[in-house]
Amino acid sequence: MNAAMLAPSILSADLTRLRDQIIAVEKGGADLLHVDIMDGHFVPNMTFGPNIVRALKSISNLPLDVHLMIERPENYVDEFIEAGASIVSVHYEATVHLHRLVQRIRSKGAKAGVALNPATPVSVLEEILPDLDMVLLMSVNPGFGGQKFIPASAAKVEKLRAMCDRLGVNPLIEMDGGIGVDNAKDLRRAGVDVFVAGNAVFGAPQIAATVDLLRTLIQA
Ligand code: DX5
Ligand code: ZN
Repeated sequence: MNAAMLAPSILSADLTRLRDQIIAVEKGGADLLHVDIMDGHFVPNMTFGPNIVRALKSISNLPLDVHLMIERPENYVDEFIEAGASIVSVHYEATVHLHRLVQRIRSKGAKAGVALNPATPVSVLEEILPDLDMVLLMSVNPGFGGQKFIPASAAKVEKLRAMCDRLGVNPLIEMDGGIGVDNAKDLRRAGVDVFVAGNAVFGAPQIAATVDLLRTLIQA
């Protein structure tokens, strides 16, 4: 396992007060900022482009964890890396030449992640796992914040962790969707390293205190 990290997802932030909300998550001890990019094709919703990454980079020193929920991610990764992404995750389901794309992300100086939808088994990663810095397991169907955690996701983390041990590799394992104070601790035990939390952080009355509480839970 790796050290536990918390990545607040700005999808649920109040964009009219983005700077203040970033300051609050920094104060609470956030480790990364999770940025959800949606194209209205791969998922039924649209969000941001590289400009938001550039803007975040200019106001925060936290590494930017960019989750591309877009078709043909190979056409856009360069722009997101140039804008300041530290980690770029592409969906397994969204590209044909995954190996080529992972090499491309790394050659541009970013860490490479591969994301899996809830119905995609971890076994599809067998060949690419040694080349990955991170695996992002979706614990809701991607597209929206504030959804309910899919319970079978915990077993999927355990399966991935066992596969990593068998192959002798140790990528970050990130879980994304429906994570909060009620399930974070159990998910750490199952093997999650990076915890994405949108609604649980930005929907809380005290953002900094909630980040601090979540971090305490995952570090125990
Ligand atoms: C969903 C996004 C998530 C989302 C999580 O498609 O990938 O990152 O922001 O939000 P919560 O924590 O509210 O489920
Ligand atoms: Zn995400």
